[in-house]
Amino acid sequence: MPVTAVAPANIAFIKYWGLADRALGVPANQSLSMTLSRCVSRCTVDTIKGPDEVWWHEDGRARPADPVFAARVVEHLDRLRAFAEVDVSMRIITTNSFPTAAGIASSASGFAALTLAALTRVDAAVDPGRLSILARKSGSGSAARSVLGGYVLWPEDSEDPASAATTFLPREHWALSDVIAVVDSGPKATSSREGHFRASTSPHFGRRVELLGERLQRVRTALRERDFATLAEAVEEEMYEMQAIATTSRPPLRYWRPGTLRVLERIEALRASGVPVCATTDAGPNVHALCPDDAVTAVAAALSDDCETIIIDKVGAGPALSSEHLGMPTS
Ligand code: DP6
Repeated sequence: MPVTAVAPANIAFIKYWGLADRALGVPANQSLSMTLSRCVSRCTVDTIKGPDEVWWHEDGRARPADPVFAARVVEHLDRLRAFAEVDVSMRIITTNSFPTAAGIASSASGFAALTLAALTRVDAAVDPGRLSILARKSGSGSAARSVLGGYVLWPEDSEDPASAATTFLPREHWALSDVIAVVDSGPKATSSREGHFRASTSPHFGRRVELLGERLQRVRTALRERDFATLAEAVEEEMYEMQAIATTSRPPLRYWRPGTLRVLERIEALRASGVPVCATTDAGPNVHALCPDDAVTAVAAALSDDCETIIIDKVGAGPALSSEHLGMPTS
């Protein structure tokens, strides 16, 4: 029987940007994110005879996945097979509920779903900590956070960058939403992976790492106390700093587009008018407007004219197994 896992994307308040160990893929700093609930990847895994197969499911049907993506999936399967000590080929069918590779952490949700589905299919029971470490080894560091719900800290041990993610606060603690203003749904020109590699070439990177502990502490306290004004200030500081590191890397990386700035200005004006909202961006042009649930209608209405689409999401419970499997073409 196939196994299907659904895993959510996440949005970082404090970003993972840069590596402490490039070969091991361990991050230069602790990051803290909110797991989403509607932006998800669904991944169906079954064992088959013959070589591994990787399929991409879109518009109701499966097609062979892009070879670069398929190779990355098979590489990860090799890792999972070695961990589970099994030698079986697998068919992977995967899909996203949101634009792929557009700065909405599609590899985080995708590799979290794949890791959970494949390990379950081969009966390798794993606790969330092991799942987090294995998901991170896919090369998508933020996948380490997508295996848990609520507000997630990764790595949990500030002294051990290879440690797992942990739940900092459960989703019930604070009902925050993420109004995603998609200003450009096309794939990004440069991957986050490349951004991580280049981060340390910025002359400001060392200083960023020094300053981060205090900023993370502010975010933790603001979340604990449900203090939106303090959270907003720290989250935007972090957004600008991550983009500053990217734009001062050598060669520079610029993820924002003119539309990004228009949305950022809107959010600033909205906040000045009394709506609790703040912005963050990842390695892409789209803007995540974070706000308490009861401000969503006002935020979405204010941003809709300045973007292609609005995706309204909120803090979520983390991954789960599902009985709705993705199917193969019948003919
Ligand atoms: C800017 O290497 O996890 O989103 O695998 O492409 O999702 P993808 O990226 P990953 O880097 C994430 C970088 C970030 C910040 C963050 O999510 O912490």
